[in-house]
Amino acid sequence: MTTTEHSPTAAGSGASASQVFRATHSAADTASEASAERVDDVARAVLRAVHQVIREKNVSYPEFQAVKQWLMDVGEGGEWPLFLDVFVEHVIEEVAARTQNGSVGSIQGPYYIPDQQRVDSPATLPARPDEQGDPLVLSGQVTDVGGKPVAGAELDIWQADSAGYYSGFAPDIPEGNLRAVVVADEQGRFEINTVRPAPYQIPTDGPTGKLIAAAGWHAWRPAHLHLFVQAPGYRRVTSQLYFAGGEWLDSDVAEATKPELVLDPQPGDDGRLHSSYDFVLEPAS
Ligand code: DHB
Ligand code: FE
Repeated sequence: MTTTEHSPTAAGSGASASQVFRATHSAADTASEASAERVDDVARAVLRAVHQVIREKNVSYPEFQAVKQWLMDVGEGGEWPLFLDVFVEHVIEEVAARTQNGSVGSIQGPYYIPDQQRVDSPATLPARPDEQGDPLVLSGQVTDVGGKPVAGAELDIWQADSAGYYSGFAPDIPEGNLRAVVVADEQGRFEINTVRPAPYQIPTDGPTGKLIAAAGWHAWRPAHLHLFVQAPGYRRVTSQLYFAGGEWLDSDVAEATKPELVLDPQPGDDGRLHSSYDFVLEPAS
């Protein structure tokens, strides 16, 4: 068969991302907090920006109807989390970062699944017996902004496998694969054994992929590890770590790379790749 047999389809990963989003964000979360003034202010600004583009680009009736169809397709395909996290979240993160004093962060993306297995450091991420990919050891320390170790800090980590697929969002990968909550030691130190992920491609067969193809863009994110780093009383850091020299590092479709987030793993005597990275947590507000 063709490679599509094992490729996650847009329908599969988009719909799963929508399901996970619904399961982890209650309607109350989403609807209750904004005042009428805030909704008026932001919604009006969004509409003004859209009107402005229509005037500036002379958008026609056929184009308007095509966009309507496309928006319906994104919703029906469950691709809103995927689309918004690729094309919008990096600016939300940029705004959040204005008030951040801990480690530099990055976007969360659509593929986090809560409540994974907890493992004390030194930890090995759950993996298939024949998990492919270069063994990788990520170690480091979690401290507060004053340099004091944060004992028992949690590193909730998730990543694609060496083919670029996430468990829970692609067929044939066991639940929880390459996902865990790693608990740092009394000194805030951690060691995580995993494999180096491959670059990730946005599913090309859904509406998001169609837009990317129609515009002549590419659909790739560079290889990355996702992490939440957290401890009681501290503001959670949402981050991603990338790999020096990796493909797409300078043209991430999600625009979520930062120079501070690039690892440069080196082979150790044990034949595995080693890299270290420290995290700094600031107090919760
Ligand atoms: C998407 C996928 C990712 O792995 C990621 O980190 C960000 C966004 C996406 O498909 O939307
Ligand atoms: Fe990702």
